[in-house]
Amino acid sequence: MNEVLRPFADCVGNNLWPIFSESPILNTRYCTMFPIREQVAAMPTLQRVPRGHWFWGHLAEFNRDRLGFLTRCAREQGDFAYFRLGPKRIVLLSHPDAIEEVLVRQSRWMRKHYALRFFRPILGEGLLTAEGERWTQQRKLMQPLFVPRRVARYAATMVEFAERHIAAWQDGQARELHAEMSHLTLAIACKTLFDTDPSADAAGVFHSLRVALRESNSRFGRFLPLPLWLPTLSNVRLRRSIQHIERIITQLIAERRSRNSPQGDDLLSVLLHARDEVDGSGMSEQQLRDEVMTLFLAGHGTTANALCWTWYLLAQHPQVAEQLQDEWRRVLGDRPVTADDLEHLPYTRNVIYEALRFFPPAYLIGREACADCIIAGHPIRKGTTLLMSPWVVHRDERFYADAETFRPERWNDGFIKRLPKYAYFPFGGGPRTCIGNHFALMELPLIVATIGRRFRFALQADRPVRIWPAVTLRPENGLHVHLRANEKHGN
Ligand code: HEM
Repeated sequence: MNEVLRPFADCVGNNLWPIFSESPILNTRYCTMFPIREQVAAMPTLQRVPRGHWFWGHLAEFNRDRLGFLTRCAREQGDFAYFRLGPKRIVLLSHPDAIEEVLVRQSRWMRKHYALRFFRPILGEGLLTAEGERWTQQRKLMQPLFVPRRVARYAATMVEFAERHIAAWQDGQARELHAEMSHLTLAIACKTLFDTDPSADAAGVFHSLRVALRESNSRFGRFLPLPLWLPTLSNVRLRRSIQHIERIITQLIAERRSRNSPQGDDLLSVLLHARDEVDGSGMSEQQLRDEVMTLFLAGHGTTANALCWTWYLLAQHPQVAEQLQDEWRRVLGDRPVTADDLEHLPYTRNVIYEALRFFPPAYLIGREACADCIIAGHPIRKGTTLLMSPWVVHRDERFYADAETFRPERWNDGFIKRLPKYAYFPFGGGPRTCIGNHFALMELPLIVATIGRRFRFALQADRPVRIWPAVTLRPENGLHVHLRANEKHGN
């Protein structure tokens, strides 16, 4: 079949005949006689968000207030909003059907978007950034380690680490919860995925990651990012922080190699023992570094942010925190929470779902069309960047009544089943869906229950919280709180 027509055929079930067909999915008429490129060219262009600069496009607005800009685009222009960031043509998709088409139905014609390439210096070609055959192989290799039954084995470690982490916390202390949660989730990821303990340098890792993410993120907002070898201040900072994290990763791999043990249960062991099906060779050092780095970063940062926003929301909604206490008292009594308890903690689950709706850590997901195609009736040219924002869709009143209110009860009575599928997508979807979604959905309630039973948090009035939409959604200067020990567990 003609390669140009292939994406089109894919979304209509290979039904290329008769010459004119009506697609139920695309809700549009198309002609199979002419190449899709010509049909796309003949279709009306999308509406553009007004007032973009002739040269920079909407870069200034995007950099000034990313979340506000995306929300305005969707609310003013509708489900397909067109804008330009420097030379890049962008379409923001805000309808669940269109999002499903990009992430699932037409995913094979999509690759990760250009902004992710700015993170290549850190991530290399790990699972998050790899494409094609390499991605398929690596995903196949790692997927079995992330199925629910497998991740349930990590529950005890998660609870134990959370208990240990707060052992020294005292009523009335001031703490910065973003750093605290990052240290905790990093320790859990390292233990469960790599069977190692990085806690000696947790603060250093936290600092280097912060710098690396800040600098990479600012490259996303530039017209043309300067090559990394140029010795600008920003590049030097970025390179130094990457080198620091790389040293830790290299030590981690070397330490495991030196153990010379037979294949164990953890991810690092599986990666070290993986052999190519054809020539029997193992992974190169670079490949190993990239995969470990990706899991190291993806495996803890997003979860730390999700925890942080959950604590922030609970601090502002004491009645929700109170209902959680009731549920934990009723179901758990005084014993530690386990993986088996989670199905009996529906309110805890609702709070996590609602926190991920309200502050989705991965607030922007992107793809680049590798061919001209039609998404939900709209022509998309090859090379166009397609952005989908859980932040925008999760706050859309069409799907969520009173969307700007934090209301865990909305998830009662099978609400999730009644939602259009891609109206809620904190973990993305389709083949590139988050590999750690079960891991995160177990870790989050276990940590919230373990820490939440012992402490509540009062926001420090003189340290306002600012949302920083970097790679993930995080509090810009941290989340500063005073600890309040719960009566029963007071220390
Ligand atoms: C609340 C926590 C988390 C959130 C919100 C989250 C969100 C996401 C999203 C939205 C994607 C898809 C990106 C895209 O389609 O472009 C993704 C991919 C990924 N996530 Fe997560 N994630 C979380 C936790 C985790 C954890 C705990 C791990 C590992 C243990 C992990 C590892 C990954 C990896 C490796 C990918 C790339 C998968 C692929 O492309 O095959 N994530 N995550």
